[in-house]
Amino acid sequence: MSPTTLTRLLTAAVSLSATLSASANLQPQYNGSYPAATGTDAASFAKTKFDFVVVGGGTAGLVLAYRLSENPKISVGVIEAGQYRPDDPLIGTPTAGNLLGNADIGTLLGNPTYDWMFQSVPQAALNGLVIDYPRGKVVGGSSAINSMIWQRASDVDYDNWNTVFQNGPGWSAQGLEPYFKRVESWTEPELLFPGQQRDPALATAHGTNGPISVSYDTFLTDIEVPSVAAANSIGIPTNSNPDGGNETFIALTARSVDPKTGLRSYAGNAYYQTAIGRPNLKLLSQAVVSKINFSKSGKSGIVATGVNYIVGGKTYTVSVEKEVILAAGSLKTPQILELSGVGNKTILSNLGIDVLLDFPQIGENLQDHPVTLLDFKVKDDVLTLDRLNYNQTYSYEQQVLYNTSASGAMSYTEAVVGPLPLQKTVNSSTFDAMFSNLTATLATQQQTPIQKVQYAALESMVKSGAVGWFELTVVPSGGVASTAANGSNYLTSVAIELDVLSSPASLRTWLCSMWLGTSTFYHRLTSAGQHINSTDPTAQPVIDPKFLEIPWDAEVLVHGSQWVRKWMQSEPIAGLLEGEVTPSLNVQSDEEWDAYVRTAVRTTNHPLGTTAMASRALGGVVDPNLKVYGLANVRVVDAGIIPMTIGVAIQSTIYAMAEKAADLVKSTYGI
Ligand SMILES: *[C@@H]1O[C@H](CO)[C@@H](O)[C@H](O)[C@H]1NC(C)=O
Ligand SMILES: *[C@@H]1O[C@H](CO)[C@@H](O)[C@H](O)[C@H]1NC(C)=O
Ligand SMILES: *[C@@H]1O[C@H](CO)[C@@H](O)[C@H](O)[C@H]1NC(C)=O
Ligand SMILES: *[C@@H]1O[C@H](CO)[C@@H](O)[C@H](O)[C@H]1NC(C)=O
Ligand SMILES: *[C@@H]1O[C@H](CO)[C@@H](O)[C@H](O)[C@H]1NC(C)=O
Ligand SMILES: *[C@@H]1O[C@H](CO)[C@@H](O)[C@H](O)[C@H]1NC(C)=O
Ligand SMILES: *[C@@H]1O[C@H](CO)[C@@H](O)[C@H](O)[C@H]1NC(C)=O
Ligand SMILES: *[C@@H]1O[C@H](CO)[C@@H](O)[C@H](O)[C@H]1NC(C)=O
Ligand SMILES: *[C@@H]1O[C@H](CO)[C@@H](O)[C@H](O)[C@H]1NC(C)=O
Ligand SMILES: *[C@@H]1O[C@H](CO)[C@@H](O)[C@H](O)[C@H]1NC(C)=O
Repeated sequence: MSPTTLTRLLTAAVSLSATLSASANLQPQYNGSYPAATGTDAASFAKTKFDFVVVGGGTAGLVLAYRLSENPKISVGVIEAGQYRPDDPLIGTPTAGNLLGNADIGTLLGNPTYDWMFQSVPQAALNGLVIDYPRGKVVGGSSAINSMIWQRASDVDYDNWNTVFQNGPGWSAQGLEPYFKRVESWTEPELLFPGQQRDPALATAHGTNGPISVSYDTFLTDIEVPSVAAANSIGIPTNSNPDGGNETFIALTARSVDPKTGLRSYAGNAYYQTAIGRPNLKLLSQAVVSKINFSKSGKSGIVATGVNYIVGGKTYTVSVEKEVILAAGSLKTPQILELSGVGNKTILSNLGIDVLLDFPQIGENLQDHPVTLLDFKVKDDVLTLDRLNYNQTYSYEQQVLYNTSASGAMSYTEAVVGPLPLQKTVNSSTFDAMFSNLTATLATQQQTPIQKVQYAALESMVKSGAVGWFELTVVPSGGVASTAANGSNYLTSVAIELDVLSSPASLRTWLCSMWLGTSTFYHRLTSAGQHINSTDPTAQPVIDPKFLEIPWDAEVLVHGSQWVRKWMQSEPIAGLLEGEVTPSLNVQSDEEWDAYVRTAVRTTNHPLGTTAMASRALGGVVDPNLKVYGLANVRVVDAGIIPMTIGVAIQSTIYAMAEKAADLVKSTYGI
């Protein structure tokens, strides 16, 4: 863009914003600098005597920090690798940095200030494709960078933790329900989708006094309501209460956004910031944990005595009086255990690490929700979030609306989400063929004890037709499916758009370039691992989700994608679309779809299971108190403990688990 064009645009924008932003600004002012650490520094943190050291100031870690430090006699230290960024608008504003990204202030995912930026090894079943694995590296963890989707799984997913994985009735839908509620300050929806009733049970399912604000979109684009109506017309009903134990079908999905301020509600502001004044809570940011220091003596067995961390190239040790709580996430917690000598003895001794405890299950059982995407082009004048990018007038109007009333397009999060039973998307002959193919595949495999019970549970769940097997969602913004391949072209397009604002003819052309991305994700039956390959604590672990290695996985994606095409060809959504762009109607046969999905798979960023909570006989890593088997005083509280993937986005489950974990720790010590 030429400098004169830029000047003209900026001048127009400034005068417009001066006119529009006369009223009070609800949003906190960001001063551009952040404290390096909070209330402490590397050396004084090391000298402090903590009862509990929590590794990871993320979604679960900050819940633990907040709850355990409620007792002023208990001291808690938290070590977080990322920065403390209170009031950062990129974290706070729902559309900024998240759904569309923001050309002016950047993005969260793929930005090293917020994201570990892990990557998988090349995926054998995806022709060597490498999958990006974003994970939050900032105070608040992944709750600071996720899409804010707030879902609860069907009861059976949690009941399995009790019955299948032998963790006792405390770990069941009923056992967890009070903890889901403890997290939430829920506000009922204003808008309703087609087919949605005001169901009093929706309110009963939620809590109203918890730290995390849970609300619903108050702004929709032109896309959501017709999409839901189209799904209804092809046999997918609207679920008025997806959070009461039945996740299935399409719903207006809750989100972790404060309806009063329009800001993301996350572990950083909802839990940590409200406890920040407590003298018995210290958080050290920008410190990378390198290992747990253990002593192995006497009758107590293997006892954690302290935690080593690195700041500015220097290693410090903080000692711990009671326990180390690992909450570094499913991709980092196994790494820390392995670096500390707890893991598969072959892997550890090959790297020259002294083996303290041979524990080969650590880092195994990695499960995730892969996703494929389809892109559709919408007709002229159909409102999607892309208007924020190509129309400066609209963008400033929406900014002012957001700043003054916490509403409008800037407050948007994905609203349409629907976990569908497989039987709703394929006919019974296809289902039966898929199922016998699956049975044949599994018969050829060596299965570990935990896989045997997982597969048995999955078979009965998929056959029941009562739980979601792939999930549809609608992203009302541009080129989602092709961003990875054509990211720079996408940004170039934005620049071209700014350049041609003065030319109505060109503007018209750009208006046609709005997209509707929809994605399907399927899940379950992916089981793999991740381990260290280096003694360097800052090296990333080797992550291998083994996407689509079982033919069933590809078949679910193929049939899910075919269903999404059928959905988008149904009225009333079909009338708003010009057509499908990616993969395009050239893709027709099952074989063509299979080839497409193998180029298009990504993760929805829900890795879990790497330190599974299950009985020792099944190969679990932690017991029902979340203590690592064989270690005297180390617990894990993060997505790694979930023994088998669940049918929805995981964030609310992580919070509930962490709230329960805090009670378990408190009861251990009578505090
Ligand atoms: C909205 O608020 C943010 C944060 O305070 C500020 O940076 C921005 O300039 C405001 N925008 C308008 C149009 O008032
Ligand atoms: C900026 O804001 C942070 C967090 O609110 C605060 O700690 C810091 O002192 C502020 N810096 C300046 C220069 O005002
Ligand atoms: C779950 O809810 C949907 C939508 O209300 C309903 O059609 C379905 O029968 C329910 N499933 C179960 C297992 O109750
Ligand atoms: C780590 O623990 C060992 C005992 O296993 C002890 O000898 C050593 O001093 C500890 N290191 C630090 C830095 O505390
Ligand atoms: C431990 O790791 C080695 C090397 O990767 C592997 O061959 C072996 O199967 C693993 N052991 C177990 C019990 O998983
Ligand atoms: C840009 O947005 C403004 C304000 O919403 C609207 O009046 C105008 O028609 C839009 N222009 C185009 C080309 O869409
Ligand atoms: C089931 O669906 C497949 C395509 O997905 C189709 O080829 C087949 O004819 C259908 N079978 C029946 C009995 O409708
Ligand atoms: C399962 O289906 C795939 C193709 O979808 C095929 O390649 C494979 O041979 C089938 N496996 C069995 C055991 O039938
Ligand atoms: C990316 O852009 C190139 C050049 O414009 C084009 O040939 C290619 O088909 C695009 N790829 C995708 C996936 O859209
Ligand atoms: C593991 O590390 C070795 C030595 O640095 C390297 O050659 C190998 O490629 C690494 N493996 C993976 C899967 O990253």
